[in-house]
Amino acid sequence: MSAPRSELTSKQQHELVAAAKRAYENAYAPYSNFRVGAAVLLDGGEVFAGCNVENASYGLTNCAERTAIFSAIAELGSKRTKIRAIAVVNDRNVACSPCGACRQVITEFGADADIFYIGPKGVQRSSMRELLPNCFSSESLT
Ligand code: THU
Repeated sequence: MSAPRSELTSKQQHELVAAAKRAYENAYAPYSNFRVGAAVLLDGGEVFAGCNVENASYGLTNCAERTAIFSAIAELGSKRTKIRAIAVVNDRNVACSPCGACRQVITEFGADADIFYIGPKGVQRSSMRELLPNCFSSESLT
């Protein structure tokens, strides 16, 4: 078990949410018309953004969170992709937390990450462990 980490400053939080908001401008969402943006903050301080990319098959849609994470890995490699926090927003500013698939992918690279997402009263924070308790992990494979 790793040591608890200090909370993000409110400036860091605002910057991460702002990066996520910028990202939904590039969303490709002609089927749902629901534009989502995400931004991941890595332990090294780097920020990577992502948007949802839909597909006519529907099922091949990639959520904003996974786009951001995969972008970080493509740029820095998996060893440097340690997620400190991730912010997720949408163009309707409605409550929306990461889907189950994205929770599993966030956990892979950030089991202790903070997740900032729109709740009923605006942006709220949960820990990854709160969002995906007792999750499947690589520890089962060793
Ligand atoms: N979506 C995301 O990108 N992230 C989420 O956390 C929830 C859902 C996208 C997928 C799809 O393009 C659209 O929102 C509607 O489900």
